[in-house]
Amino acid sequence: MTSLSNKPLLITCGLPYANGPCHIGHLRTYIPADIYVRCLKKLQQDPLFVCGSDTHGTPIVINAEQQGTTPAKLAAYYHRYWEDTFKALSVDFSHYGNTDAPTNHFRTQEIVKSLQANGCIYPRVIRLAYCPECDRSLPDRYVEGACFFCGMPARGDECDQGCGRHLEPGEIVDPTCKTCGASAEYREEQHYFFKLSAFKDFLLAYLESLGGTANARNYAREWVSNELKDWCITRNLGWGVTFPGTDLVVYVWVDAPIGYISFTEEATSAWEGYWKSDSNIIHFIGTDIIYHHAIFWPALLKGASYTLPAAIVASGMVKVDGKTFSKSRGYVVWVDEDYLDHGFHPDLLRFYLASYTSHTKELNFSWQVFGEKVNRELVGSLGNFIYRTLHFAYKNFGRVPEGPVDAEIMERVADTREKIVSALKEYEFKKVVDAAMSLSDFGNAYFQSKELWNLVKSDRTACARELKNCIQLVKALSVLLEPVMPSTMRGVQAQLGLTMTYFYDATVEVEPLRLPKPALPFAKIDEKKIGAMEAILNERIARADHKGPAKEPSTGEAIIKLDDFKKMDLRIARIVEAEPVQKSDKLLRITAQVGEETRQIVAGIAKDYAPEDLIGTDVVVLINLQPVKLMGVESRGMLLVAENDGQSVLIRPARKMPSGARIR
Ligand code: 2FM
Ligand code: ZN
Repeated sequence: MTSLSNKPLLITCGLPYANGPCHIGHLRTYIPADIYVRCLKKLQQDPLFVCGSDTHGTPIVINAEQQGTTPAKLAAYYHRYWEDTFKALSVDFSHYGNTDAPTNHFRTQEIVKSLQANGCIYPRVIRLAYCPECDRSLPDRYVEGACFFCGMPARGDECDQGCGRHLEPGEIVDPTCKTCGASAEYREEQHYFFKLSAFKDFLLAYLESLGGTANARNYAREWVSNELKDWCITRNLGWGVTFPGTDLVVYVWVDAPIGYISFTEEATSAWEGYWKSDSNIIHFIGTDIIYHHAIFWPALLKGASYTLPAAIVASGMVKVDGKTFSKSRGYVVWVDEDYLDHGFHPDLLRFYLASYTSHTKELNFSWQVFGEKVNRELVGSLGNFIYRTLHFAYKNFGRVPEGPVDAEIMERVADTREKIVSALKEYEFKKVVDAAMSLSDFGNAYFQSKELWNLVKSDRTACARELKNCIQLVKALSVLLEPVMPSTMRGVQAQLGLTMTYFYDATVEVEPLRLPKPALPFAKIDEKKIGAMEAILNERIARADHKGPAKEPSTGEAIIKLDDFKKMDLRIARIVEAEPVQKSDKLLRITAQVGEETRQIVAGIAKDYAPEDLIGTDVVVLINLQPVKLMGVESRGMLLVAENDGQSVLIRPARKMPSGARIR
C-alpha cells in the first residue's frame, strides 16, 4: 500500500481480452485487487476501481473470422460476459468499460497526437509478413514461425514458447500464415514507431521509485538495463483505433492501457485529478504483462505528459495440478463451467486464491487442496467458531449479553487489525487472511478452554461475560474478513445487527441485541464432489491429448470411426416441462419425453429460450451420456444445440417425428 494520503487514489486491473471465457488464472489478479479495494474502503479511503474489456487486437479478429462473426459482435458478447462474471464473483468495480467505446478512441488519438507533437513517434518503412494465398498482411498472431532471438516456435508478436521476448513485426523467421498455412513473404509497408529507446534514463530513475511488488520492479529494471527497442505501434488491420491520418490502426497495447484513463473519464468528471495531477495510481496485473506496464506504459504516459503509476502489483501465475496452465492441453479450470455452475460459492474461491500463497508466487490449483482448505479452515475453524458461539448465545440467552468485553480480547482484535493493515502495505493477501484465521483459532481455543457449556450451568453471569468475549471475536472476524468473503461475512454481520462497518469497528463493543436463529456460514464439501471435479479436469486433459485444443473451434482433423458415432444414442424428444434452475441464469431444468420414458435434462440455454416457449417442442437428445449433476440437479442426457456468436440454437427435426425416433 502506498502511504495513505488525501491524493486521488485509483486502482486498476489488467483488462481481460473480450475473446473468451474467464478461468481461474485470470482471478489471481482480480480477486486480490478487489480485496485490496474493499480493505481500503474499510480504512475509510475512497479509491476508484476501474477495469474494462480489451476488445482490440489480432486474436479477436482471428477468433471472429473462425466463428463466422464480426470482431465487434464477438467483443460485445464477451464484454457482457465478463461484466456478469465479475458481478457473480463479487468483484465490484466502480466502473467497467470497454476499449472500443468512443471515449477510448478519442483518448487514444489524443495521446498519439501529443506523442507526435512531442517528437516521440516517427515513421519507418519495414518488411512485414504477407500471405500471397490470403492476399493480406499478417500482423501479430496472423503469422507464426521461429523466434529471431532464440529460434523457438513463436507467434508474430511474442516468443511464447522460448525466451518470452516481445517480437516486433519482421522479427519472426520462416513466417507462415496462421490462417491458411502458406509460407508468407515479406513486403514493405510504412509504419509508425514509438521511441521507447529514448526513455532509458527516465525509466531507470522511475523504476527506483516505483511502488508495488518487487517482482515488477526487478523484472523491468533488468529489461531496461539490457535492451530497449523502439516499438512499432501501428498495424494493418481493419479493427481497432485508427492511427490519425492513416488507414492503419494503433497496436492493441497502445489503446488497451489508455483504457485505464478513458474508463476513469467515464467514471468521473474529476478524471484529471487522477491522470493530470499528483495522484496514487496502482495497477494490479499478472507477471506476464510486467514489460507492458512497467516499461512501455510509463514511457507512453511520460511522452504525453500524463501522471505516472505509483505502484505495480504483479500476481504470480497459476498452474493446474502442477502443470503450466494451458487451454490447449486441457490444464484449465473455467470459472462458470467448472465452478459456479456446480454450485460452489464464490467466497470459497476468493478465500482460496487469497490465502493459498504469497501474491507474487506461483499458485498451483488443485481440487483436493481446495476441498481440504474449505473443510479444514472455513468449515472446521472459522465457521465452527462463528456458529457454535452464535448458536450457544441464541439457545441459552437469546441475545448478546450485556456487559463489557475483556481488555485482552480487545487487544487481540486490535493487534489482528494492525497485522492486516501492515500485510496490505506489502500486498500480501495471504497474511491478511492468516491474521484473521489465527484470531478464529484463538476464538475456538478460548470457547473450548472456558467450557461455556459447563459454565452456563454453574455460573450464568461468568458464562455471559465469556460469551460476550466470543461474540466480540465473531464480530471482529466478520468485519476483518468481509473484504475477502463479502457475502458470507455480511450474512454473519446481519445476524449481529451490523450494517456499515469499518475495520475500526471491529474493536467497538458489539451491541447487546436479540439474536436470530443462526445459520451455518459454510457447508462442508463432500469428498465425492471433489472427486467428480477432478474427473472433469482429467477428462478434459485426456480429451485435449487426443484431439488437440479444447475450447477452440474444431479444424476438422479429429476423424472418428462410424462405430464411434454409432455409440451415441441420439433420439427425438418432446419437451413436456421446462423451468429455470435456481441460482443459475444459464441453466434450464427440462423434462423430456423420449418414447415411453421421461427424462430430466439440464441444459445451458436459459439465455436463449424462455421455458414457456419450449413446452411441446421437439428436440434432439443424446440419451446415453453419463448422468451428471449441474447446480445440484441431475441431468440424464444432453440437448443438441448449434452455437454461434455466443448464441445457442436448438437442433430440431425438419418435420414432425414420433418422440423416441432414433437418429442415424
Ligand atoms: O494480457 C492481457 O490479457 C491484456 N488484455 C491485458 C491488457 S492490460 C492493459 F494494458 F490494458
Ligand atoms: Zn525467443
